This record gives sequence, C-alpha cells and structure tokens, in this order.
Amino acid sequence: MAIKILITGTSGLVGFRILVSALVDGHSVVATVRSREKEGLIRNNPAIQKLSVGARLIIAVIPDMTIDGAFDSALEGVSHIIHTGSPVPVPTFEPRSQVYEPTIRISSSLLTSALKTPTVRRVVITSSIVTNLGLNPSPTVAVSSSTRIPPLDPVPASFANPMEAYILAKIAEIHNTERFIKTQKPHFSLSYIMPGHVFGRNELITKADMMFGQNSSNNFLMPGMIGGELPFPIHGAFVHVDDLADIHLGVAMMDSSSPRDFGIACTVDYSTIFDHVEKAFPEAVSAGVFKRGTVPVLPVNYSSTEMGELLGRELKSFEEAVVDVAGQYLENLGWNSA
Ligand SMILES: NC(=O)c1ccc[n+]([C@@H]2O[C@H](COP(=O)([O-])OP(=O)(O)OC[C@H]3O[C@@H](n4cnc5c(N)ncnc54)[C@H](OP(=O)(O)O)[C@@H]3O)[C@@H](O)[C@H]2O)c1
Ligand SMILES: *[C@@H]1O[C@H](CO)[C@@H](O)[C@H](O)[C@H]1NC(C)=O
Ligand SMILES: *[C@@H]1O[C@H](CO)[C@@H](O)[C@H](O)[C@H]1NC(C)=O
Repeated sequence: MAIKILITGTSGLVGFRILVSALVDGHSVVATVRSREKEGLIRNNPAIQKLSVGARLIIAVIPDMTIDGAFDSALEGVSHIIHTGSPVPVPTFEPRSQVYEPTIRISSSLLTSALKTPTVRRVVITSSIVTNLGLNPSPTVAVSSSTRIPPLDPVPASFANPMEAYILAKIAEIHNTERFIKTQKPHFSLSYIMPGHVFGRNELITKADMMFGQNSSNNFLMPGMIGGELPFPIHGAFVHVDDLADIHLGVAMMDSSSPRDFGIACTVDYSTIFDHVEKAFPEAVSAGVFKRGTVPVLPVNYSSTEMGELLGRELKSFEEAVVDVAGQYLENLGWNSA
C-alpha cells in the first residue's frame, strides 16, 4: 500500500524539517496548518519550491485542532501520522489555555480520528525528555525514554508558568495515550520520540529580522554567541534537527514489533558555544559580530536510545548544530567576510 504521511506542526522547527525530508524521500504528505497564511509560508518556502512536489503535497488548514473530528477529513487515505504540532512554552502564553489544554486535546483528537481511519498503520508522536525527567530532574538519577512520571491528579487549577504547564501536559499526554492504547486497542501501532533541546538550521527562517521573533529553541543558543546571558538554565541535552527529522521518519517506517519509545538527547556543555563559533567564523568574531556569552545549564542524566543503526550514521555533534545556527545568523544579517 502506498505511503501517505500526515504531519502536524509543519509551520514549526521540527515539523517543517520532517516535511522536507519526507518529500525528499518521495512520500506523499498531508501537512496540517492552522491558517492560510501558514499554508503560504510553507508552499512558498525555497526548500519546498526547489522540490517541485506537485500533488504529493496536500496542505490541510485546520483552524482548531483541539475539537473532536478536526482531523477526520485530513486523514483520508493516510497510512502514517507524525504529530509534532503542539505548543512549546513561550513565556507570554497563558499556561492552562495556551499550553496545557491544547497539548492534551490535540493528541486526543488526532488519536480518536485515527481510530476511525482504517488506512492508518503507524503513529509517531513528538514528546520531550521532560516527560521522563519531570519538573525537578536529579542529575544523579539516570532517566530514559521508558521512565514514567505519574500525572498530577487532579490537574492543578493553575500553573506557575508556561514551562511547568508544558512539562505537566507532556506527562499527562503520554499517560492518556497509553490508556487509549490499552482501552481502545487500535489497529495501528504507536511510538513516542523524546528529544532533548533541538538545534540546527531552521529553513523556515528566510528573513534577516526573524531570528529572534520565532520563539524557536535555536534562540536559546544566541546569548552564548552574541554576548549576554540566557535568563534561565536549560536542560543539558540536545539533538540536531536534521537527525531528529530522519529519526521521526525512520521510526514511522518501523514495523509495529519494534521497541516503542525513543529518547534522543546527547549531553551537552553550553560553555563551548563560543569556542565552536570562534573556530568556524574567526573573521566574524574579530569584527565583533559574535561575542562570548552565557547559557546556564540544568544538568540531567538522560540515557539516549541507540540510534546509529536506524540512522546508518553517527548523530550530528553539538558543534555542527552551533555552527549551523551561527552560519544562518550570519546569512540573515547579510554579513560576509569579503
Ligand atoms: N524545539 C525543541 O527544543 C523541542 C524539544 C523537545 C521537544 N520538542 C517538541 O517538538 C514538537 C515541535 O516543536 P518545535 O520546536 O518544532 O516548535 P515550534 O517551532 O514552536 O512549532 C510548533 C508547531 O506546533 C504548532 N502548534 C503550536 N500550538 C498549537 C496549537 N494550539 N494548535 C495547533 N498547532 C499548534 C505550531 O503551529 P503555528 O505555527 O500555527 O503556531 C507549529 O507548527 C513539540 O511537541 C515540542 O514539544 C521540541
Ligand atoms: C547517572 O545515574 C546513574 C544511575 O543512577 C549513576 O550511576 C551515574 O553516576 C549518574 N551520572 C552522573 C553524571 O551523575
Ligand atoms: C512568539 O510568541 C509571541 C508571544 O505569544 C507572539 O506574539 C509572536 O507572534 C510569536 N512569534 C512567532 C514568529 O510566532
């Protein structure tokens, strides 16, 4: 049977990168977005334009993905689902209505629609290492993709901040999904992917002024290379966005007897950011475009799933991710050393 992949979150860092790889691999894709504006951003992006994908790319506009049946018609004939379209903890978001509730409702709506769609064979959901680590990770306790944290019951009436809501939502989401599998016994199999912080070139960013307006995880690296200090510590574990995209597609194509969940998070030392930039772009450093700054780390003890066999290559290094982000920053500035 032909492969047709529904990908959510294609207007985001991770989902867009998966979309490009899926199209390069020759698959048909249904990409979901919330607005016509985002549809245009995707269709007109140079990375999509140069592929001349024709009818292999369908973009489904679903303004509210939290409502029951939202995905019913988009799922027609779909064999695989990759769900990356979920809120990230933007500091200005209202924790319950903009982070916690939609996280849980979108995946529930998606799974309910998938249950009604006989063609669906496999579902991959993007979670996060915070699902396994919880609110207060201990650096001395080893955690992996199989570690489970019980959800808070009852759900708190309010959350301290968007990050707390995000972590508790990811925990509740996987709990709900595991209960759904047990009670509904769906005809498809399901895997979770738990990435650490995602860094690397973001093909969605095509304008000079967009680097800081994107609420993207790449922005966490910027104080380390342009000076200043990130005002909060971030988990000391990462994955390159290119690897994460290939892993999503590889896991989607696995058969259902394969291990279920995959944690991909390599330990990282953020104090090396500027050293990598200095090595790759010495002229830009001399010219004062880059300056050493600080990205405080929240140490974690996370055992990544071995991915070499699936990828057929080593995972990309933190240095490669930093150089990709710094290089894109220079491009966006229109800076060149000549
Ligand atoms: N980036 C990281 O460091 C990181 C680390 C671990 C896990 N993850 C997970 O990876 C997934 C993708 O993250 P990302 O980094 O690609 O984030 P992103 O760049 O902010 O993209 C998020 C995507 O989800 C969509 N989305 C957000 N809230 C939504 C809502 N309420 N209803 C419908 N769609 C919504 C966005 O659509 P709009 O464009 O319409 O807003 C966008 O397409 C998330 O599940 C995230 O938790 C990311
Ligand atoms: C990670 O956890 C394991 C098991 O609890 C422990 O043996 C190891 O020392 C920890 N690593 C660090 C860096 O603390
Ligand atoms: C980033 O988040 C802020 C606050 O919610 C929002 O106003 C802004 O539009 C977001 N930027 C992008 C590019 O999505």
